[in-house]
Amino acid sequence: MKFCYLLGYPVEHSLSPLMHNTAFQKLNLKIKYELLSVKPEKLRTAAESLRNSNVKGANVTIPHKITILPFIDIIDDLAANIGAVNTINNQDGLLKGYNTDGLGAIKAITNKYGSINGTDVLLLGAGGAARAVGFSIVNKVKKLTILNRNLLKAESLVKSLKKYGNSEVSAEKLDNVGNLLNVSDILINATPVGMYPDMESSPIGNNTIPSTLFVFDLVYNPIKTRLLLDAEAAGAIFLGGADMLVYQGVESFKIWTGLNPDESLMLKLVKNQLEKGEA
Ligand SMILES: NC(=O)c1ccc[n+]([C@@H]2O[C@H](COP(=O)([O-])OP(=O)(O)OC[C@H]3O[C@@H](n4cnc5c(N)ncnc54)[C@H](OP(=O)(O)O)[C@@H]3O)[C@@H](O)[C@H]2O)c1
Repeated sequence: MKFCYLLGYPVEHSLSPLMHNTAFQKLNLKIKYELLSVKPEKLRTAAESLRNSNVKGANVTIPHKITILPFIDIIDDLAANIGAVNTINNQDGLLKGYNTDGLGAIKAITNKYGSINGTDVLLLGAGGAARAVGFSIVNKVKKLTILNRNLLKAESLVKSLKKYGNSEVSAEKLDNVGNLLNVSDILINATPVGMYPDMESSPIGNNTIPSTLFVFDLVYNPIKTRLLLDAEAAGAIFLGGADMLVYQGVESFKIWTGLNPDESLMLKLVKNQLEKGEA
């Protein structure tokens, strides 16, 4: 038996063991996905343990996605630009780091909306998730506006994105979002605003959502956030974070095994659990 781990703190409510273990079993793979609750001061030891020959790899989540970098041997280009790793592959004791969050986001968006090429996108937030999405879409979209509460952080992300991609990229204060909703194609929320238990808040406040806007919320608990309920009421197309959660997992699965997992089964399991309120 080989093992994959989720390194985080806390990790107890993760849906990853359910989706990965079911997908491993479906392909008759002798791999088990387990939670590894790692306090920040124990991260180096936990990372070293991933070199063991019975470990295939790991996912990395809050609060270790950035602090794990010094303990990894090779970091792929996208993860290095994002500055965070969410997937580690153990190749005979050599640890290679990747970031599959952005790929997961693109797949979720294109499945629901279609191609994002040439679109005008508003990205709310400038933290780890916003960086992963930003670097993954910057070469595809026409215009990308990063809106953040802390403008300096948005400007710093814009600077890095300009070096990486050739779309038109700019920064704005999150408060200015109301002026941009009518002239954009896609709104992506990469802040935790609206996440359980803060379920009455929306990252765009009371601003009116045009019916032509595609609204994607990375938050997956609750399944329908305040932002998505408002998008639905406005007649806009919308998508919650569960699909991205599954598709980033699908990309990790492919890195560890070289095989395609049963995506629709993984999606069904995760959505069922979220509907039961078990996350
Ligand atoms: N669906 C998925 O697969 C998936 C994957 C990754 C993350 N996520 C979700 O994405 C969200 C962000 O995660 P993260 O890792 O990027 O977190 P993070 O690194 O802590 O960044 C949080 C961002 O949200 C902003 N923010 C926080 N509280 C805010 C508030 N009350 N009002 C306005 N802005 C606020 C922060 O702005 P400042 O810079 O101004 O503080 C920052 O830009 C979380 O809810 C996470 O669960 C989902």
